[in-house]
Amino acid sequence: MPMIPDHIVEEVRMASDIVDVVSDYVALKQKGRNFFGLCPFHPEKTPSFSVNPEKQIFHCFGCGTGGNVFTFIMKEEGVSFPEAVRILAKRAGIAIPEPEETSDANLQLREALYHINEMATAFYEQQLYSPAGRKALDYLHSRGFTDEGIRMFRLGYAPDSFEALFKYATERHFSPDKLEQAGLLNKRDDGSYYDRFRHRVMFPILNLSGKVIAFGGRRLAEDDSIPKYVNSPETPIYHKSNVLYGLFHARDAIREQDLAVFVEGYTDMMRLFLNGIQNVVATSGTALTPMQARLVRRYTKNVILLYDSDTAGAAATMRGADVLVEQGLDVRVAELQEGEDPDSFVQKYGPDALRDQLEKAIPLLDFKALRIPEAGGHLEKTERVQSLVQTLAKIQDGLKRQEMVHYYAEKMNLDEEVLWEEVRRLRKLYRLRRKPADEQIQVMLPVERKGSYAERSRPVEEELIRIMLLYWEAVPFIFSFMEVTDFYNEDFQIIAAVVFELYQNQIRPEPEELIHYFNDAHLSEFIARVVLMSKEERDAVTKDYKRWAADCLAKLQSLMLEMKIEDVQEQLKEREASGGDATELLEAWRRLQEQRQRIRPENFLPEYQ
Ligand code: UTP
Ligand code: MN
Repeated sequence: MPMIPDHIVEEVRMASDIVDVVSDYVALKQKGRNFFGLCPFHPEKTPSFSVNPEKQIFHCFGCGTGGNVFTFIMKEEGVSFPEAVRILAKRAGIAIPEPEETSDANLQLREALYHINEMATAFYEQQLYSPAGRKALDYLHSRGFTDEGIRMFRLGYAPDSFEALFKYATERHFSPDKLEQAGLLNKRDDGSYYDRFRHRVMFPILNLSGKVIAFGGRRLAEDDSIPKYVNSPETPIYHKSNVLYGLFHARDAIREQDLAVFVEGYTDMMRLFLNGIQNVVATSGTALTPMQARLVRRYTKNVILLYDSDTAGAAATMRGADVLVEQGLDVRVAELQEGEDPDSFVQKYGPDALRDQLEKAIPLLDFKALRIPEAGGHLEKTERVQSLVQTLAKIQDGLKRQEMVHYYAEKMNLDEEVLWEEVRRLRKLYRLRRKPADEQIQVMLPVERKGSYAERSRPVEEELIRIMLLYWEAVPFIFSFMEVTDFYNEDFQIIAAVVFELYQNQIRPEPEELIHYFNDAHLSEFIARVVLMSKEERDAVTKDYKRWAADCLAKLQSLMLEMKIEDVQEQLKEREASGGDATELLEAWRRLQEQRQRIRPENFLPEYQ
């Protein structure tokens, strides 16, 4: 782990208010100058854990633990000091320079790429106002964009040619190699270059200093044989997941109004901005990222998602939004009537009508709880509850989470305890993936039995993983009987956690694709092996995944009981040897035996059907 410069550690300290940070983990209540809550470091029923905002320290009168915001994270997350600084830096949206980023060569490359993008932007702009760009300019005018608006966002036109930019730039002594690194030229197999953007309206993408870091290029006509947008690739200065289009223009308004409106498209962003709704950014049609959340969080905690009204848009809204909640943002959803996007809506009805829609935005949780169409079936409600639970689990502020669980339990007529239990389960899962292996929750077995259990359960757990990889439908089936943490083998537990989270987020990867979700080489190797092996076996095995999984679940359950039985037997022996009273142990032994005899694969079947 490379050293983090002192001034950055200081910056992170300043940006991480201890009450704020601790609230992510502990529900705090203010009493006088201090805040109190239940200590996360020892079990207790009455709060003796206190946080002092003036001194920026915490202390537990119960167990004596105490420290500053860094020590809190180190203890809570089980990480080293630099790791804790990194976690808090991320949370605060502070970039920690990687060593290579500060090196001269890297800096020079970045400068060169900014310079190239500036040159290209000017070239595309100039083309838009030349005879060659007439059609593009007409197109923009026809969509109701004025010259003033076009200039403000520095829109341009990439000519209908494979070498317009190439020629222009190389004549000015820009190197084709650098132009390629900037994503403006593509390289042919024979080593020659050609323009990436051809016959397109160009939307420059700016960073927060107003420098152009990338482009989106839109086709001029509705021609489905070519992609609607061609975008810059990832480059040393452009990482798509770190960008919100329009933030450079919008941030003052976002700060002033303490609200950011998220739309999908470049044109939506421009349209709203140019019509006086200036606190708007575009997510560029992809899933929201934590980095985008942290970017906007510097200016406001309040976000309204204003997405296209088609179902794909709504689905994206739902999936994406939890990321924002997780970063502490307060998310609402505004809807538009069928067939409209923010751009077309403003064109038709004007900005005031759109402001009305924004006024009517509802909390994301309400959207999840109420707006998914009720088809009457039981499954519909289950799905709504699931989606709701996901968001609830991502609320970091403990008090708020509690409040919301209470509120929605009532609102949806659910048992509050049951809802809590679901939320806790998910939170445990989210935490699991961040904790070092030795802190993972263990199957509750006496130490002596664990080795033996691990050995015998391994093949069964492997089989369960394989079933899930082969039959995605098996994921909810299997997890309706066991938790991620019931996978005793560490590797399988990690895989199970990832699979479960993907499922929860309604992402369904191909088995082969799954490999890419694991950074750890030996895990991806394992998955590759399982997937390949399973493919060969696929036709040989039963197609009835429930039956197959039920067999495994039954095996796992009886294994667990066997271990417990063996343990009780050992204890019995000792007790008998010492001549003590063994009645209780005998009773326990009998109960466990009974339980074990009742285990049948069928037990796992009807419950689900
Ligand atoms: P839209 O298809 O809604 O485009 O995609 P738009 O920006 O609203 O364009 P108009 O109004 O139809 O002209 C929303 C965003 O998704 C990304 C772009 O960032 C776009 O702004 N996108 C879309 C792509 O990157 N590639 C595509 O092929 C389509
Ligand atoms: Mn659109």
